[in-house]
Amino acid sequence: MLTPHLNRLSDGELVYEGVRLADIARQFGTPTYVYSRATIVENFRAYQSAFAASKPLICYAVKANSTLSVLALLASEGAGFDIVSAGELQRVIAAGGDASKVIFSGVAKRSEEIALALSHNIHCFNVESEAELYRVNEIAIAAGKRAPIAFRINPDVDAKTHPYISTGLKSNKFGVAHLDAVRLYMLAASMRGIEVHGIECHIGSQITELSPYVDALRRLLSLVDDLSARGIHLHHIDVGGGRGITYQDETMFSMNDFAQAVEREIAGHHLDLLLEPGRSIVGDAGLLLTRVEFLKPGETKNFALVDAGMNDLIRPTLYDAYHPVTAVLARGGAPTIYDVVGPVCESGDWLARERALVLEQGDLLAVLCAGAYGMTMASNYNTRGRPCEVMVDRDEAHLIRERERFEDLIAHERIII
Ligand SMILES: Cc1ncc(COP(=O)(O)O)c(C=O)c1O
Repeated sequence: MLTPHLNRLSDGELVYEGVRLADIARQFGTPTYVYSRATIVENFRAYQSAFAASKPLICYAVKANSTLSVLALLASEGAGFDIVSAGELQRVIAAGGDASKVIFSGVAKRSEEIALALSHNIHCFNVESEAELYRVNEIAIAAGKRAPIAFRINPDVDAKTHPYISTGLKSNKFGVAHLDAVRLYMLAASMRGIEVHGIECHIGSQITELSPYVDALRRLLSLVDDLSARGIHLHHIDVGGGRGITYQDETMFSMNDFAQAVEREIAGHHLDLLLEPGRSIVGDAGLLLTRVEFLKPGETKNFALVDAGMNDLIRPTLYDAYHPVTAVLARGGAPTIYDVVGPVCESGDWLARERALVLEQGDLLAVLCAGAYGMTMASNYNTRGRPCEVMVDRDEAHLIRERERFEDLIAHERIII
């Protein structure tokens, strides 16, 4: 097994759950994102069973993969949702998600977005600044409501991840400073439009060590105690998301160790637990299927030029991220070292570097672990329509999003000369 439910048959072809990837390429074309329904469900249930003792509200981070079928599947499993925009809230609702299980994160929420979330009676606003607190209060008063809030605390711990996805350091834009938190909670508790509910942190993404979580939790819990002594009793603690996945050779702390560490820390505090996992629910549940257009031997490098580019999967370009790449049909013979690169006119347009592959022009490649921050970060750069998306469910493949056509790309433009 290469990633969960992805196997190679004895004839050398890759099969995802019960569907051959070559058949998906024939039916739907390439590039195509393909997801495994079983993997998404198993990843979600892994949280539920490890955290069975604390029964957390698991708010899936919509930004990781916001495709309606993915959201609908998770909603049917009982998930809540962590959103960062009105658009994500509308997606959750369109997918049949329960707004009362939605938490709203983000550093620069617009007034209309706050009003919309309030009108849907979401579970909680994760407030990230004093200015935002005032804004939420005003909008709630105008609506005749009290907005449930938690402050996102910046605990100033190093999540030991890529600088672009580290969010819990003083130098990051996220959250309110630990030192300022008590003052802000006192202020919030005095506001007519605010109901103080909880405390939150999210220290980063693709975290592979448990210790930053424990450090952050301890800093939050010291605040919980401090506030309690001042008569402010919080109802929930939200540990954020960030649990990493294995892209290459990362060793991950186990889900049980994670649950035990969190539950040990919060024991005795009488707090409901919230989690905001994204990547660890969908990351290894998806791949990007792409076709080799040309093989181009170079003086210093050999290139496999494929039909997926940085506009389809930007993680390698953006974070130097590693994705495993494997041929859909395993061929015999000596491998060649290739850089797998896309058709986009940027030298940064690469998907994988220095991979040993046996390839012929027209072969299919699977770029693995592309289920999170793949399609949600795709763009139309170079006027390329975004890929279609397919969900495999045992031996069936369902088209869950059509490939974008040229007409879609120009639909909102006006020619003025
Ligand atoms: C506030 C918040 N919660 C949750 C997540 C999900 O993180 P991950 O996909 O690493 O689990 C993010 C992602 O950056 C986030 O910003």
